[in-house]
Amino acid sequence: MNIVIKTEEQIEKLRVAGKLAAEVLEMIGAYVVPGVTTDELNSICHDYIVNTQNAIPAPLNYHGFPKSVCISVNHVVCHGIPSNKKLKKGDIVNIDVTVIKDGMHGDTSKMYFVGGENKASVLAKRLVDITQACLYKGIQNVKPGNTFLDIAEAIETHAHKHNFSVVEIFCGHGIGEVFHEDPQVLHYVPSSAREKERLAIELKPGMVFTIEPMINAGKKQVTILKDGWTAVTKDKSLSAQWEHTLAVTDTGYEIFTLRQEEIDKGSI
Ligand code: MF3
Ligand code: CO
Ligand code: CO
Repeated sequence: MNIVIKTEEQIEKLRVAGKLAAEVLEMIGAYVVPGVTTDELNSICHDYIVNTQNAIPAPLNYHGFPKSVCISVNHVVCHGIPSNKKLKKGDIVNIDVTVIKDGMHGDTSKMYFVGGENKASVLAKRLVDITQACLYKGIQNVKPGNTFLDIAEAIETHAHKHNFSVVEIFCGHGIGEVFHEDPQVLHYVPSSAREKERLAIELKPGMVFTIEPMINAGKKQVTILKDGWTAVTKDKSLSAQWEHTLAVTDTGYEIFTLRQEEIDKGSI
């Protein structure tokens, strides 16, 4: 792995890009209601990123992805393509936003409850909350001297404790001028010694990457649909994901994509 250590100038730009990405998630919340189509949500995000933020939606045309954000509903694990499908009460929805500002990427996603939190099933609510806790536990292991293995272990342990599974075929990633760069940030502990060794890299100040666990209520296996993008759980069980972009600092971490609600609640 060739992990770039970011300069202070790059870090400052990453802060700006991260904040913008977080603001898209804050802005779109009010529109995630029964009856809206995921295409309508995509358009609102696109227009906000382009016209209000003077930024670029990174997913659009990225390796051929046709839309500006990913929207993944219920058993869709990630990379859901916005469409004319209407959201309905009780759905759980992930919106994943990546913006490019001044050449730098900010990448973040959150879960929404359509029709409000109390319309979701007990299982859906639990899955969403545990997945967010998995993200936070991963982040809390980010500090110099720890390794990527510590992050993976914290996430996996918490998911398994609640009888949920961790998706293995997608991972977090280094990020900067490039959308997806080294390192690969796994959310589970691989069984092979060779893979484990690859994760045993020490975290160093100036490393910037995402952590973005995808957690399933059922089994970990995933199927990619014929559109080449949409990843769904093989057993059709619910899936949730939360994502932040962060840097390793001298003493721990700095999250670039924190939302006001997380600051207010003191979530992390
Ligand atoms: N935002 C996703 C991630 O967290 C990547 C989306 S790639 C796309 O890495 F092409 F599907 F947009
Ligand atoms: Co990402
Ligand atoms: Co993302």
